[in-house]
Amino acid sequence: MKKEKAIKPAILGGIPAFSEPIPITKPTMPDTDVILSRYKEIFKTGIITNAKYVKEFEATAVKHLKVRNAIALSSCTCGLMLTMKCLELKGEVIIPSFTFHATAHAAVWNNLTPVFVDCQSDTFNVCPEEVEKAITEKTSAILATHIFGNPSDIDALEKIAAKNKLALIFDAAHGFGASYKGKPVGGNGTASVFSLSPTKLLTSAEGGIVTTNDDALAAKLKVARNYGDSGNYDCAFSGFNSRMSELHAILGIESLGDLAKNVKRRQKSVEIYKELLRKLPGISFQKIKKGNQSSFKDFSIIVDADKFGLSRDSLSEALAKENIVVKKYFYPPVHRQKAFAKYCQGNIKKTFVNTESISQTALSLPLYSHIEEKDIRKICEALSRIYSSRKEIKEVIN
Ligand SMILES: Cc1ncc(COP(=O)(O)O)c(C=O)c1O
Repeated sequence: MKKEKAIKPAILGGIPAFSEPIPITKPTMPDTDVILSRYKEIFKTGIITNAKYVKEFEATAVKHLKVRNAIALSSCTCGLMLTMKCLELKGEVIIPSFTFHATAHAAVWNNLTPVFVDCQSDTFNVCPEEVEKAITEKTSAILATHIFGNPSDIDALEKIAAKNKLALIFDAAHGFGASYKGKPVGGNGTASVFSLSPTKLLTSAEGGIVTTNDDALAAKLKVARNYGDSGNYDCAFSGFNSRMSELHAILGIESLGDLAKNVKRRQKSVEIYKELLRKLPGISFQKIKKGNQSSFKDFSIIVDADKFGLSRDSLSEALAKENIVVKKYFYPPVHRQKAFAKYCQGNIKKTFVNTESISQTALSLPLYSHIEEKDIRKICEALSRIYSSRKEIKEVIN
């Protein structure tokens, strides 16, 4: 793994851009009064899990995502695990290496062998050509992530899956608010799995939703989230408790009501960021293909060290000194993590050319639905200031 560089303290001098750290993200919470009045009702009735609000949340998600079924669960990770379990997958599953590690954990927990493939250099999403090359007689599924809410090349992946008779699951953890060719992501492939954790546009505090047009899969998932017990105490297969509580569902319902507004706010914030940062040499952005809409779960820049005059890691440290919290998503990439390295043989640098490069140069800047324009301007001013002082910044090896 690359040695990180550290910047000597106080090289830029002066006062940091923010007196308190500006977070990388923050949940945009719905109206507290509405939430509390509904909470009071369920406290009174004592029916606090997997009941009428979970059903209402699922029905609202179905309508919003234009899909036949939505199954609410306790997390996206559980949704991924149970979807693969219900599909009775065997052998190998093809997974992008540029993703959050939960994507890969879900496969390994199903005793599947993850076969990691490279991503596209511009969209950061899994490369369909690499997926096709990785198919063997042992492959049973493709698991693709919509990175940072940027829809994957769904048409190409659907074609490959159909041609090779493979299940196609989308890790749509970042996907609420994203659309592909004018339609919300969620009705594609065999199933899509969304996260509702606090870093997402739509949150239920913790939670996940699986969407699918396959009614049999949906019915099985509803049993799977209840230990595999359909209600007769005679489990037909092994599931686990992954139910959503009524408290979480209420939060999800209200958060879904605010989704369209929050998507627009993020789009506007990203436009401001891009307009201000475009002027800086060596800074570029994730490509969102024409006709698609990213949820902008994250706003990530690519730092070209030669042109910007500082590495991503040095820029990250300089921003930290300005009280700006940033994240190196996803670093290290999954194929370099201890839990997964054993699945990757051969020349890693050659196999994962784009993943290796992006994971070392991508930096996510603060973004949440209610971030204020003045804060984005301050963040961009800090970046410009760091760029102007780049020659004074002495990089030291940790
Ligand atoms: C791509 C991806 N997949 C899966 C997950 C897991 O989601 P959860 O925390 O809801 O299990 C995350 C979490 O952020 C993620 O980013």
